[in-house]
Amino acid sequence: MSAYQVGYFVGSLSSTSINRTLSKALIALAPDDLEFTELPIGNLPLYSPDYDDDYPPEAQALKDTLASCDAVLFITPEYNRSIPGALKNAIDWASRPWGQNSFDHMPAAVIGASIGQIGTAVAQQSLRGVLTFCNARQMTAPEAYIYFKPEVYTDSGEVTDEDTAAFLRDFMAEFRTHVERVLTVLPRH
Ligand SMILES: Cc1cc2nc3c(=O)[nH]c(=O)nc-3n(C[C@H](O)[C@H](O)[C@H](O)COP(=O)(O)O)c2cc1C
Repeated sequence: MSAYQVGYFVGSLSSTSINRTLSKALIALAPDDLEFTELPIGNLPLYSPDYDDDYPPEAQALKDTLASCDAVLFITPEYNRSIPGALKNAIDWASRPWGQNSFDHMPAAVIGASIGQIGTAVAQQSLRGVLTFCNARQMTAPEAYIYFKPEVYTDSGEVTDEDTAAFLRDFMAEFRTHVERVLTVLPRH
């Protein structure tokens, strides 16, 4: 059985990002037949339609990588009750030029970690609205709003609490099932 290629966005540019730690945990706990490639967002210029006829290399690389992916995973902080601007900028690049939206029919899931107990719930609702317009096929359940407790994760993403590990493992198993279901009716390659 061939693996599913999953592109993932970490919505934070912070060198000490808890969402990057969460991304490592998710990758480590994911089913074996998911293979992950990060979609960098920190190197992208700010999107303008002026670029539509001639994308800069960083933005073209984003679209090329997404084209080679079977699915996309968003791991994002909440900034002021929405997603960080850097992530929105990357989504805008990927959604254009008009008629070449990289997210069209793409299986997708969202998750995020916060230092607050709301666990990025509001940011995720904001992101879901964006992804709905981009016509991504979102996993709607389970939801995962992670209240980040530093003592539960090592820097390399190992999860030391078995209940948390089980929750994240289940989330990724459900994501894999979602990807398979979507691709059964909407094959990408
Ligand atoms: C500009 C800014 C806005 C923030 N807004 C929120 C917010 O709306 N809700 C929340 O729970 N945390 C908020 N936080 C705190 C973040 O949860 C915290 O900084 C977290 O570590 C960000 O994730 P990261 O470490 O992956 O960058 C905000 C932080 C920053 C820097």
